[in-house]
Amino acid sequence: MTNILEVENLSKSFGGIKANNNISFKASSGEIIGIIGPNGAGKSTLFDLITGYTKPDTGGVKFNGKSILNLRPDLISSLGIGRTFQKLKPFLDQTLLENVMIGALATGINLNQARDKALEMIDFVDLIDKRHHFAKELSTGQRKRLELARAMATEPKLLMMDEVTGGVDQKTVPGLVELIKKLNKLGVTILTIEHNMRVIMDISHKILALDQGKKIVFDKPKNVQLNEKVIDAYLGGVNATTS
Ligand SMILES: Nc1ncnc2c1ncn2[C@@H]1O[C@H](COP(=O)(O)OP(=O)(O)OP(=O)(O)O)[C@@H](O)[C@H]1O
Ligand SMILES: [Mg+2]
Repeated sequence: MTNILEVENLSKSFGGIKANNNISFKASSGEIIGIIGPNGAGKSTLFDLITGYTKPDTGGVKFNGKSILNLRPDLISSLGIGRTFQKLKPFLDQTLLENVMIGALATGINLNQARDKALEMIDFVDLIDKRHHFAKELSTGQRKRLELARAMATEPKLLMMDEVTGGVDQKTVPGLVELIKKLNKLGVTILTIEHNMRVIMDISHKILALDQGKKIVFDKPKNVQLNEKVIDAYLGGVNATTS
């Protein structure tokens, strides 16, 4: 399998805090990679470094074998990396259709094509009945779906999701998990930041665990689950189970 993403020794400090400290990992095309770690571990910073929202102090990022270091976020997006944000950013006073069309238009297609693409993606995330509703009318779970539709409208090859199941009630989680699997079946490689261990163990082919800016392990779920450093750092000494 080819490496769609190669992260090489990325470091970023904010003042005295090493938010990312020499992080390396690779994603093969078609994989789902789960990213875990306690609050402040550096997960969102890693996303910001890969997608150009923050400049690393040192290190490199390659997408499909080519360096994307120091490119602007919009250029990185147009190369095929989509993302959602931990703090949702929909335009609340615009409809779902308008919100997703904005994502689609960023790819340089015309208005009619953008409308078709947006409708296709809104349908894909099961919100077609609400296409003319304002974003502010949606529940948190529905807003997460809207975020996914907006990101997918840019036709990414790699989709990076920051806590898709965060802040939604338990009964909403399985639907979002199914959606992630459905996106992956389309051939989209996925990096997903998750606090829900059951979800992460269920969907990930590999898991990257961070703690205090450092990579503590990058391995298959069953190995990560048994890793003592992960148990200490993330699970507070309580062994995680998937049941
Ligand atoms: N723009 C910034 N300026 C200053 N400090 C920052 C900035 N962004 C992140 N940090 C700090 O870097 C560290 C890592 O933050 P980050 O948001 O990447 O963690 P996280 O793993 O995403 O945490 P959470 O699970 O709470 O979302 C934290 O100590 C945070 O306070
Ligand atoms: Mg975060």
